[in-house]
Amino acid sequence: MTNEEMWRLAKGIGNIQQNKEEALWMVDRVPKYVGRPLRNWLEIGCYGGGGLMMWSQMLADDGVMIGITLDDNFINLQQKVESITGKRTIILNMRSELEETKEAVINALNGERLDGVFVDGEHTFKQIEKETELYTPLVRTPGVFAYHDIAGGIGTNAEYYQQKRFNISYEEKRIPGNGMKGVGIFLL
Ligand SMILES: C[S@@+](CC[C@H](N)C(=O)[O-])C[C@H]1O[C@@H](n2cnc3c(N)ncnc32)[C@H](O)[C@@H]1O
Repeated sequence: MTNEEMWRLAKGIGNIQQNKEEALWMVDRVPKYVGRPLRNWLEIGCYGGGGLMMWSQMLADDGVMIGITLDDNFINLQQKVESITGKRTIILNMRSELEETKEAVINALNGERLDGVFVDGEHTFKQIEKETELYTPLVRTPGVFAYHDIAGGIGTNAEYYQQKRFNISYEEKRIPGNGMKGVGIFLL
């Protein structure tokens, strides 16, 4: 399936909360940076599953898509994403900031590591700091840690991202007029 075709499904069935240009940029850019087929991807905050559908485009056929989310429909979400993408999907209905959730991700990885993470859950400074600290050590090098909504104000995830990027290689995509959105990718 082309990225455009998947975008239409992610929008129509998965209710994706991303900007189209930003999402397509990420799907194109991340595999080029990583330089190998991606096997394991983690999205924190999955909502209707549209993000998982888009990011699955980056995965190898036998790759594993892991989601952490608090939505009640998590079993349906797993089936929905898997049936559309054909990629093995594991949804953890757990709070992303907890050590036990990190342990569940490690179990899901079955001895492998992540190629990348996309965080789009609770948009606070404290939360994103904790998520970065917990999940970055699970990412292979080269790999990525990607943030959504990178242009918010004080106390938000965006403030954390903007401070942290001074000390790391990163790339961003922000579409003019797209409010607080935008994606930023730390290149690990
Ligand atoms: C903006 S939506 C995610 C949109 C999705 N990434 C997409 O691209 O369509 C935010 C999601 O974060 C989840 N969430 C919020 N706080 C969370 C937490 N502490 N742990 C796990 N998930 C959380 C919510 O359940 C919700 O599904």
